[in-house]
Amino acid sequence: MNSITLKNPFDMHLHLREGEILKAVLPFSAQSFSGGVIMPNLKTPVTTSQLAQSYREEIASLAPDFLALMTIYVTDFLDKESLQDLSEVGIKILKLYPKGATTNSDSGVSSILNPNLLEILKVAQDLGMILSIHGESDGFSMDREYEFLKVFENLAKRFPKLHIVLEHMSDHRSIKVLENFENITATLTYHHITMDLDSLLGKNLNPHYFCKPILKTPYDKEALLDLALNAHKKVSFGSDSAPHLISNKYSQNAFGGIFSAPNLLPRLVELFERHNKLENLQAFVSDNAITNYKIKVKKDKFITLKKSPSKIPDSIPVLDSKIIPLFGGSDLMWQELV
Ligand code: DOR
Ligand code: ZN
Repeated sequence: MNSITLKNPFDMHLHLREGEILKAVLPFSAQSFSGGVIMPNLKTPVTTSQLAQSYREEIASLAPDFLALMTIYVTDFLDKESLQDLSEVGIKILKLYPKGATTNSDSGVSSILNPNLLEILKVAQDLGMILSIHGESDGFSMDREYEFLKVFENLAKRFPKLHIVLEHMSDHRSIKVLENFENITATLTYHHITMDLDSLLGKNLNPHYFCKPILKTPYDKEALLDLALNAHKKVSFGSDSAPHLISNKYSQNAFGGIFSAPNLLPRLVELFERHNKLENLQAFVSDNAITNYKIKVKKDKFITLKKSPSKIPDSIPVLDSKIIPLFGGSDLMWQELV
């Protein structure tokens, strides 16, 4: 095949940041995707309807056609009364970070199964909201997602009508919760389905491959890739593209986050083509998400890609510094037509 057209691609897990970084990175996502789920872990976390609405306006002023599905950062101070207001303004995704688990998660929740949060989740369930979770314990890095599975199981049983999303699935042992609980779905990143721990540190340490959850074993990668290539009904694409200035990636305290937004669709096409699964890409990057998250698309967007060489930019200039994209400078076999 020499060309492929995708209808309404969605990136179901996206960090856009704010201000100058937002301006620099948003065009990559807005060009390729109809919309995406916008993560709330800004320097001032998006904890209220007001903050989410002004963030949504900031995004809309730069990319009016991009459907920004906003999320609310769950803190110990979230109260159940505010959930109704959120629903009314079309904000229906709650993002839960265990305190300290990742970048800007200091305001996260220290005890997830606490009575206050459980009451909130009951209301969220009644309002048809979605609970999106960064599911990692504070244990050994390679086992953090696995150790957290019991929390997913507990919540899924308690709130059988609440749609719970296991974000950026990274461990093959998590797949069983998709099979066992009707109300759990997952997002998969490009990096977790194509790379393993050796990409990060098998040769020299490469901070651009450092992310949370950490890249795992080749076996995990293959198992997750298999879900993606077969467009398992309960998984959708969520890049977890997470830009950091180069100074924060090359510092002693390097931040976790892989900036994968540039050229994501050509790379996905290449991957699915290599495995003879191109026919499943539409479901993986769009249909599953539209069904599972009940997204209402206002105006269809069609993205055509053709087999013709292109290149990932080396770096993106911003704030007298730069951000390095995943595989910056490398060649691609496919190109997105704009
Ligand atoms: O690698 C990551 N980076 N994982 C996250 O959960 C957060 C993200 C970020 O915000 O940089
Ligand atoms: Zn993320």
